[in-house]
Amino acid sequence: MIRNIYHILGVVFFFSLFLFQPNNIQAQTDQAQRISEYAEDNQLCFSCHGQANYYYQNDWIEKKVKERMNPYFIVDSVEYYESNHWNFSCRDCHSADYGEFPHSGQLRMEPKFTCLDCHAGDEQFAKYNFEQIDEDFHKSVHSSKHSEDFTCWMCHNPHSYKINARTNENMADFIQYDNEICLTCHADISKYQLLTTMENPNVLVTHNWLPNQVLHFKKVRCIECHTQINDNILVAHNVRPKEEAIKLCVECHSKDSRLLASLYKYQFTNERSITGFSNEAMLEESYVIGANRNYYLNVISIGLFILVFLGLCVHAFLRIIIKH
Ligand code: HEC
Ligand code: HEC
Ligand code: HEC
Ligand code: HEC
Ligand code: HEC
Ligand code: HEC
Ligand code: HEC
Repeated sequence: MIRNIYHILGVVFFFSLFLFQPNNIQAQTDQAQRISEYAEDNQLCFSCHGQANYYYQNDWIEKKVKERMNPYFIVDSVEYYESNHWNFSCRDCHSADYGEFPHSGQLRMEPKFTCLDCHAGDEQFAKYNFEQIDEDFHKSVHSSKHSEDFTCWMCHNPHSYKINARTNENMADFIQYDNEICLTCHADISKYQLLTTMENPNVLVTHNWLPNQVLHFKKVRCIECHTQINDNILVAHNVRPKEEAIKLCVECHSKDSRLLASLYKYQFTNERSITGFSNEAMLEESYVIGANRNYYLNVISIGLFILVFLGLCVHAFLRIIIKH
């Protein structure tokens, strides 16, 4: 009798574990398994652009020649197939004539697509609000000072960009991802100077007024202080001139912290807010990091606790009944 009940409890517990399986584990396996329709087609391009050295047949000297690939022209195939545009042929965005080598010199002049060429007015992408992002970007210092030269591609690497803040449960991870986007220029003089002849100020020096700067740069993104918040988009794109940057500590270290409308926006406007964020909790280190990641673990451990407790009660109850 008791044993049967234990069996049932065991089975219930076992299946309850599946109930609490985080959806994102499923999503991750889907991602790992997806194979681009163009994988084979792209193999030609990757045979040269996928590595540091490449070969070609030199018909003049009738010999196979090995050369170094320009490091800026290397496309990481792993990153490519993990990116938003994983299911593209290289030749969807680049001329089909790139199939020939040597590439025709004319090809370097080929016009490039803009994001809006493909994404404007498309229902499937309505949740991103590309039009609003485009508008805000055009108001930013980057765009207004450098007009057409500063494109969306400057921040969104065409071969590796993938959405992060919206999908990555690990906050520390996407903060780093987003900050690295800014640092590809603000910590790299050669890319910065594609756009200007100015010297690149060292962001570590220009931000030394922040106490424990290292921690701040790990816990907040550059855009938290440098953009104007826009409620219609998840990631603000209007980068303001430095005079308008947030310097007041209370903008974040207060009850109605601006972080609620920026860094934590997704959690607050999404189902994930069932974890019950509160401002005070948000600013406690352990909670900030663990908030999203541990939600399911919390549920499971509470579930375990309840099951053990119930098990004990039933056990005690049955023992009492059987004794009598
Ligand atoms: C045999 C090796 C080889 C193959 C195959 C190859 N490329 Fe290239 N590609 C190069 C080299 C070398 C350069 C740099 C020199 C040049 O521009 O010719 C280059 C340059 C490029 C550039 C930059 C041009 C510029 O100056 O801005 C693009 C874009 C490009 N390739 C796309 C492709 C695509 C797309 C494919 C596949 C359809 C492809 N390549 C296949 C070797 C190759
Ligand atoms: C979604 C569109 C898109 C796809 C797909 C795409 N590219 Fe590109 N690629 C671009 C754009 C846009 C640029 C110019 C980037 C810039 O101006 O900053 C570029 C630039 C390049 C360059 C020149 C390097 C540079 O940074 O200027 C090479 C080489 C290249 N692509 C190769 C490839 C190969 C190989 C593939 C397939 C594996 C591929 N591209 C797929 C859009 C794309
Ligand atoms: C040549 C057309 C084209 C260009 C140019 C292009 N995209 Fe896309 N993009 C697509 C398509 C098609 C998809 C859907 C891919 C899929 O579902 O596999 C997509 C997917 C995305 C997604 C992910 C959508 C999702 O829900 O998974 C984002 C975000 C995105 N693109 C942003 C951009 C940005 C930012 C740019 C410019 C820097 C850009 N795209 C340029 C066609 C394009
Ligand atoms: C100064 C750098 C920068 C420029 C320029 C830029 N972006 Fe972004 N963008 C970002 C950062 C950082 C993110 C956050 C990435 C993440 O975590 O998903 C982002 C995210 C996005 C997203 C995903 C937002 C979401 O809701 O998940 C889209 C779509 C996008 N950008 C489109 C664009 C378009 C279109 C342009 C050009 C009009 C553009 N971006 C120009 C930095 C930039
Ligand atoms: C492609 C290179 C590039 C990227 C990526 C980039 N920036 Fe910039 N940024 C520049 C350049 C160049 C300037 C100088 C503009 C000027 O004054 O001419 C600048 C200026 C600025 C300024 C204004 C400084 C002032 O003097 O007022 C701020 C703030 C800024 N960037 C923040 C960011 C943030 C935040 C990101 C990431 C979301 C970012 N940048 C990404 C190139 C870049
Ligand atoms: C806590 C808010 C905050 C964060 C986070 C922050 N900044 Fe700033 N940043 C500022 C303020 C305020 C200024 C203006 C400083 C001044 O005038 O002394 C500034 C100045 C700048 C400037 C102009 C420097 C100059 O002297 O010309 C750039 C560029 C910049 N920040 C980029 C970044 C980048 C890139 C990141 C992320 C790695 C970042 N900032 C993170 C608040 C911040
Ligand atoms: C963009 C929002 C933002 C701004 C502006 C900001 N902080 Fe912070 N600050 C944070 C976050 C987020 C943390 C990390 C909280 C945690 O997880 O411990 C933090 C942590 C700290 C810490 C704890 C450091 C430690 O060693 O544990 C101090 C002290 C601090 N901030 C002081 C300041 C001061 C002083 C200012 C103004 C000069 C300031 N902050 C501006 C967001 C901000």
